[in-house]
Amino acid sequence: MPLLYLSVVIQIAPSLLAADFTQLDRELHAAEVAGADLLHVDIMDGHYVPNISFGPDITKQVASTTTLPLDIHLMVEHPERVIEQLAPAKPRYVTIHPDSTKHVHRALSLIRDIGAIPGLVLNPLTPVAPLAEWLPHIGLVVVMSVNPGFGGQAFIPESPAKIAAVKALRDAHHPSCLIEVDGGVNAKTAARVAAAGADILVAGSAVFNAHAPVAENMATLRNALG
Ligand code: DX5
Ligand code: ZN
Repeated sequence: MPLLYLSVVIQIAPSLLAADFTQLDRELHAAEVAGADLLHVDIMDGHYVPNISFGPDITKQVASTTTLPLDIHLMVEHPERVIEQLAPAKPRYVTIHPDSTKHVHRALSLIRDIGAIPGLVLNPLTPVAPLAEWLPHIGLVVVMSVNPGFGGQAFIPESPAKIAAVKALRDAHHPSCLIEVDGGVNAKTAARVAAAGADILVAGSAVFNAHAPVAENMATLRNALG
């Protein structure tokens, strides 16, 4: 019987937050050419997290500037108020934090209504167990490996154990749901994150930085995955 080798391809989603906005066209083009799979877009309102980034209008402009599918991460209170405004950006994924609204199910339905795949984001201390009940309603789980709100933070070392726990639930309840890991992913941490079960790696400061061009940073990240 022939041996079957399965290789899991890990997707990389550079995070717009770390890009040089004065050179956005060039940054996005470089990410596309370097083989990025998605563009991670962090929308922050200064309430759910102590930082403000950009909103639906900028996101729409970014969408028209790149061929990359958008993966929108909503760090806002009451995300159901902004979801419809994201429709023109035609995102592939829109993810929300379950503690950012009293109406998680409604928010997930609104995401589906704009044609995107809904996802939920777990903060470092969000319990994993409730995920069993949420999984049938989502196509993506995001495990935060830093506290949300800022790029360039250090990877929380307990994250691989949390990713593995999420993977066990995902495999049992909804195998086609993807697992994304967000925060502090770089050449030093990527292999641990992948080994724990991540399907998508978000990488902001590891991809867009002043040390090396985007193509080199993407290659370093891919090489770290082996
Ligand atoms: C943090 C954001 C991340 C951030 C990641 O709240 O959700 O997406 O851009 O940045 P790095 O990869 O630099 O930790
Ligand atoms: Zn994010």
